[in-house]
Amino acid sequence: MERAAVIVAIDGPSGTGKSSTSKAVAAQLGLSYLDTGAQYRAITWWMVNNGIDIDDPTAIAAVAGKPEIVSGTDPGHPTITVDGTDVAGPIRTQEVTSKVSAVSAVPEVRTRITELQRSLATSAEQGIVVEGRDIGTTVLPDADLKIFLTASPEARAARRSGELKGADVHATRAALIKRDAADSSRKASPLAKADDAVEVDTTDLTLAQVIECVVTLVEEKRAAAK
Ligand code: DC
Repeated sequence: MERAAVIVAIDGPSGTGKSSTSKAVAAQLGLSYLDTGAQYRAITWWMVNNGIDIDDPTAIAAVAGKPEIVSGTDPGHPTITVDGTDVAGPIRTQEVTSKVSAVSAVPEVRTRITELQRSLATSAEQGIVVEGRDIGTTVLPDADLKIFLTASPEARAARRSGELKGADVHATRAALIKRDAADSSRKASPLAKADDAVEVDTTDLTLAQVIECVVTLVEEKRAAAK
């Protein structure tokens, strides 16, 4: 029997294992994968590179439509380009990380990026795992399955400092909390759990356990839809 394309939304704050989980689930189930945080980082990188004042939402809004952002959705090799330039590395710098919340709070930026996300999600023939902050609430409210990942601030900071190769855990924790507070309190589609999302607390789970949990939930949905 032909399998219908399944759309999975995975939201949650930083350091909950969203990216690793989403990529692995997509690869295991033969689905596409979209990292929406990378898109917001890419537009932030363009703003910084073009000398746009990050503290001026009007200036950001005026040029939000300019950069062409293209995401490759193969979970084994996700890519991101801005006007044809590969920015996978530059979007992970401390400078972009510290500015992305301000840029992504601008409604014109969100409208632009949300359009890109919807068009990628609806054109993924085998289905897609989309990870972010507002996927279940705003971008894809009709997703087949919505997951909201959480973890204690200590666990999230420890994971992030591991990724950043031994960065100071206390400083990482403070930066994470600041960014989450900004992402959760902004007016335009804040970080939030959708009412119909399944919440998974990953504090005491290994990555393998989180992946298995989400794969099982997707398979249950698919079986129920047959
Ligand atoms: O997942 P990440 O840390 O790479 O995301 C970077 C930033 O992008 C995050 O601090 C908030 C923003 N973001 C957003 O506003 N909406 C999304 N769907 C994904 C990310």
